[in-house]
Amino acid sequence: MGLLDGKKGLVVGIANERSIAWSIAKELIEQGATCAFTHLPGEKMQRRAAKAIEAIGVSDPWLEPLDAGSDEDLDTVFAKLKADFDAIDFLVHSIAFADREYLKIGNFTQTPRAVFTQALDISAYTLVAMSRRAAELMPGGGSVIALTYYGAEKVVPGYNVMGVAKAALEACSRYLAFELGEKGVRVNTISAGPVKTLSAMAVGGIDDMFDHVERKAPLRRNIEGPDVGRTAVYLLSDLASGVTGENIFVDSGYNTVGL
Ligand SMILES: NC(=O)c1ccc[n+]([C@@H]2O[C@H](COP(=O)([O-])OP(=O)(O)OC[C@H]3O[C@@H](n4cnc5c(N)ncnc54)[C@H](O)[C@@H]3O)[C@@H](O)[C@H]2O)c1
Repeated sequence: MGLLDGKKGLVVGIANERSIAWSIAKELIEQGATCAFTHLPGEKMQRRAAKAIEAIGVSDPWLEPLDAGSDEDLDTVFAKLKADFDAIDFLVHSIAFADREYLKIGNFTQTPRAVFTQALDISAYTLVAMSRRAAELMPGGGSVIALTYYGAEKVVPGYNVMGVAKAALEACSRYLAFELGEKGVRVNTISAGPVKTLSAMAVGGIDDMFDHVERKAPLRRNIEGPDVGRTAVYLLSDLASGVTGENIFVDSGYNTVGL
């Protein structure tokens, strides 16, 4: 018997097999969940996502194009979800974007307005846009999670505008938890330690972060996808029935150490 038997939901953010969303989906499916997926528009993106999903063991996935910056795309995806699933139990938001030119150490002060706005739109506002639509498909309540990073709370050189976007994402999660709580929808964030993914490689100084975690974190190791996936299982399952508006660190304990 799985912890998520009978539960179904949408996983947004699989680019390839390294994506945190991929590890999350793998654990969710192992626990009995049914997952629907999206990919960034474009044939190449579709092929990559389908290949990664197939590696989890899902050969004919529900897989639709979505640019989360487009309200039209969001409306289309959630309308299709309603038509095909009627109701869902969970939403996994595992996306972020910022122009990598401004993820270089020492470059935050130079962030142009358009780069700032886009980072906040794709990395934070989309949680509001998706949660609103997902909650409409959760008549019996549900659970939403989003991925964040410690750079929202403390300065991590190179994380720059993404740190500002993650601070907004975490605040959005709390406000959503407050308003959607009335409908029995829980909203939480997972603050993951650094993981080698496509997005992580765009962050200046990322290799130093891995070294630092290995030396300083209580567990003396970097985290891996399954560490995050298993916490996602907990938050999306009934085991977390009383947990909302929270941020759970999955970072080998790194954030608890002062020096
Ligand atoms: N890798 C890390 O070290 C780390 C640590 C903490 C938090 N996170 C967060 O985890 C989440 C997943 O990132 P990842 O590390 O798995 O990298 P990834 O590159 O594998 O995933 C990022 C995803 O965002 C999607 N995306 C970007 N712009 C989009 C848009 N406009 N519409 C729809 N999708 C869009 C990409 O297609 C991709 O699937 C992000 O929120 C990231 O900030 C990552």
